[in-house]
Amino acid sequence: MEPKMKYYLLSFITIISIAILFDGCSKLQENITQPQSLSIHSNGNLDTSSANFHGNVLKANSFNLTSCEKCHATNFQGGITNVSCYSCHNYPHQAGIVDTTSSDFHGKLIIANNCSMNACQKCHGNDFSGNGSNQLNCRNCHTQAAGPLACNTCHGNFADSTMTAPPRDINGNTSTNLVTVGAHASHLYTNNFAVVACENCHVIPNANNVKDHFNPGPLVKIVVLDSLAIHGIASNAVFDANTETCSNTYCHGNFEFKKSDAPPERQFAYTSDKMTGNNMTVRWNLLDGSQSPCGSCHGTSDGFISPAGHIKMPITECVACHPTVVNGNGEIIDKTKHINGQINFALSKKR
Ligand code: HEC
Ligand code: HEC
Ligand code: HEC
Ligand code: HEC
Ligand code: HEC
Ligand code: HEC
Ligand code: HEC
Ligand code: HEC
Repeated sequence: MEPKMKYYLLSFITIISIAILFDGCSKLQENITQPQSLSIHSNGNLDTSSANFHGNVLKANSFNLTSCEKCHATNFQGGITNVSCYSCHNYPHQAGIVDTTSSDFHGKLIIANNCSMNACQKCHGNDFSGNGSNQLNCRNCHTQAAGPLACNTCHGNFADSTMTAPPRDINGNTSTNLVTVGAHASHLYTNNFAVVACENCHVIPNANNVKDHFNPGPLVKIVVLDSLAIHGIASNAVFDANTETCSNTYCHGNFEFKKSDAPPERQFAYTSDKMTGNNMTVRWNLLDGSQSPCGSCHGTSDGFISPAGHIKMPITECVACHPTVVNGNGEIIDKTKHINGQINFALSKKR
């Protein structure tokens, strides 16, 4: 090897060594500053009662997180600090937190978590009003007295507090073909038949124990037919979740009225020792109208809608003896009197 070559090689090795040394130094430098970073946050950073508590620092700063990103990374997973914000709480939120179409929408997060909002309340306040911070106030959008615990928050019409039952089931579905939606609207909101309430088919939570019905464990739908559905007559009324049908309900014609119970002046209407309904088994999520024409719950196969055991009457004549319930066109005029568990008989004054 020529001396010149040797010289070049030596210089090269030296330069490399120095470079490696410097690189090592800078690594060393990092290792040294790491413990120092303990003091990056002031005492009280994790003490909720301290003004230096990181939550309070951020609150005073309108929750501007830009400075945190420098060390905890822009995704807040820890970055060079190795301390992820998410190791302690589900904050910072994703951008979709208030976007109903996003998979990060807060409603979806809550449902996925069996509706538990205890974690949210730690920052957003026990009463959801934000612990004094407008940015944390759930009630800006959930304006009812109960805030997010209002009965139409998770099911029913979010924009109309009088409609607390599906359509809009727990998962946001509105198709009446689904058992979770089914015939709620036709029982509760849209038609001219019965006055029905939640408690006829469910055990309902009240404002004080609202959390009980969704907090414990996996969500379980409970259908307990009661009061009107049974009405002291139909004690075997039942909803079968497998076939999605209701059977033996008073409402759908599981009734009998005995001639012997009727006052003598009314017994003329009986053609048998009792009047009986048709005891229909109905499919909860079949809404094509086939299950509820007049005559489905009471009526005979020859087309009369007066029940079996009742003198046969055309629909236009019911008004003569049941004028508080129907009109001469066979339309229900007072739904509080039809399917109310009562015999509503009165001779029409016009006749
Ligand atoms: C200059 C870098 C840096 C910045 C900026 C920074 N942090 Fe940190 N943070 C760290 C390091 C390093 C740790 C880990 C400390 C340790 O080792 O205990 C840490 C830890 C934390 C901890 C947990 C403390 C513990 O003892 O476990 C919280 C909470 C925290 N940071 C919040 C924040 C918030 C909120 C911001 C923005 C306002 C922020 N940090 C900005 C470097 C930083
Ligand atoms: C070591 C656990 C821990 C880490 C890590 C942590 N926090 Fe917190 N943070 C808490 C606790 C505890 C609270 C009080 C609420 C609670 O109990 O959940 C809180 C509350 C907050 C609040 C609420 C302030 C308020 O007024 O309600 C904000 C904002 C916050 N943290 C931001 C952050 C950010 C940003 C990071 C990551 C840079 C972070 N935190 C990392 C434990 C932590
Ligand atoms: C560690 C504290 C903390 C926890 C826990 C927390 N949040 Fe937040 N949340 C905040 C802060 C701070 C803001 C406002 C600043 C921001 O959006 O970054 C906020 C904002 C929001 C917003 C947007 C508010 C608006 O007006 O735009 C929604 C929605 C929200 N949070 C829902 C929830 C839900 C639901 C939970 C429980 C699953 C929850 N948060 C848990 C701290 C928290
Ligand atoms: C935070 C969400 C949420 C709120 C708020 C809420 N519910 Fe529910 N509700 C649910 C969930 C979840 C179910 C169960 C559905 C399932 O198991 O699939 C349910 C079911 C029901 C049922 C059917 C019976 C049952 O046990 O399945 C009724 C009736 C009901 N809720 C009434 C109410 C009333 C009344 C209120 C207000 C006092 C209310 N809900 C508030 C989430 C909520
Ligand atoms: C920016 C407005 C806004 C804020 C702030 C807000 N919400 Fe909501 N939240 C909504 C809307 C809108 C819906 C209904 C979306 C829908 O139609 O399904 C909703 C739905 C919900 C639901 C029902 C979940 C479901 O999909 O069935 C719960 C529970 C809830 N929010 C809790 C909270 C809590 C807790 C906070 C505060 C931490 C909060 N919300 C803050 C707008 C908001
Ligand atoms: C005529 C009977 C009946 C009435 C009245 C009724 N429900 Fe239901 N409800 C059902 C049936 C049947 C289901 C489906 C159960 C199943 O999926 O196994 C159901 C399911 C539900 C669910 C669960 C939805 C889901 O996504 O899982 C909620 C919530 C609910 N009902 C709320 C109400 C509320 C609130 C009222 C009163 C405003 C009410 N229901 C009145 C029969 C009824
Ligand atoms: C979903 C089942 C059902 C359907 C459909 C139905 N009814 Fe009834 N109807 C009943 C039941 C149950 C009674 C028993 C009395 C009561 O509880 O009001 C009844 C009673 C009556 C009575 C006697 C008066 C009374 O209420 O005591 C008349 C009249 C009557 N229905 C007319 C009609 C007409 C007209 C239609 C069609 C527009 C109709 N019903 C459709 C279930 C039904
Ligand atoms: C001429 C009078 C008269 C006419 C018309 C009449 N009913 Fe009745 N209906 C009665 C009497 C009386 C009873 C028995 C009342 C009692 O037991 O106290 C009765 C009982 C009933 C019952 C069982 C008990 C109850 O009130 O729910 C039904 C259902 C019923 N009628 C339906 C009809 C229908 C539907 C029509 C028209 C197609 C009709 N009725 C026309 C006199 C009449």
